Amino acid sequence: MRFDVLTLFPGIFEGYLSESLLKDAIERGALEVHLHNMRDWANDKHNTMDDRPFGGGPGMVLKVDRIVPCVEEVQTFAERPGRLVMLTPQGRPLTQRVVEELAQEERILLLCGRYEGFDQRVVEILQPDEISIGDYVLNGGEVAAAVVIDSVMRLIPGVLGDENSAVVDSFSSGNRLLEEDQYTRPREYRGLTVPEILLSGDHGAIERWRLSNRREKTLARRPDLLDGEEMKIDEDEKKKKKKRSKKAKEPEQIAEPENVVEAKPSETPDAADATENNVDV
Ligand code: ADE
Repeated sequence: MRFDVLTLFPGIFEGYLSESLLKDAIERGALEVHLHNMRDWANDKHNTMDDRPFGGGPGMVLKVDRIVPCVEEVQTFAERPGRLVMLTPQGRPLTQRVVEELAQEERILLLCGRYEGFDQRVVEILQPDEISIGDYVLNGGEVAAAVVIDSVMRLIPGVLGDENSAVVDSFSSGNRLLEEDQYTRPREYRGLTVPEILLSGDHGAIERWRLSNRREKTLARRPDLLDGEEMKIDEDEKKKKKKRSKKAKEPEQIAEPENVVEAKPSETPDAADATENNVDV
């Protein structure tokens, strides 16, 4: 996949692109990121890219007669033109669904604004996909463009070391739930212990625990993410729980729970043993 970033401050991306996963993906050729300094399209001796707004008001506006030729020329820098994304707080919100949509593209141009934004005729002529990364105002589109690159590149096959890890992330395709709580060694820290089930080696029980942890967390923190189906499952679970606790309160019903063995810490595998038993830690 190829990204072309159009910015007045290409230096902002340099550190970010030269570290960790991005660096590896670029070195392996799984990802191309080309930076273009839009000021190279300024054609006057002062390299002017912006001007005062007609009608008055604060700030400066990026000039249509600089930005449009810049985008049009960058579009010719590869075999096929790319999808043009403009980063702006007025755009549609970037969600994982939008990220998945963008990941289908072969090439994306990321147009980063500064100051008060672009002359509206840039939008009318180029008809970009306007995207916002959240309801707050950044100093420019560069950080937002980095967020787009970061979130999209994770979905490109071969970019992440572990092919599966993007799939199980919160919000990924087919999984609109928040990620479950994660633990690693030590098993106990300041009196806080790891849920016993994760050390049990019982893969089925662990998967059930993970799913129920994801659902509970999503319901508590981000109920807006749960679609009708998830809500229904959750309601069913709540009903079952209520039924169970009602039963437990009736004195004559109290009995030793079947099939539940009190876990003795000495008998449960340590995280290290768990690894031997192929348990994720
Ligand atoms: N530029 C300034 N603020 C922005 C935001 N929230 N999202 C995308 N681009 C921006």
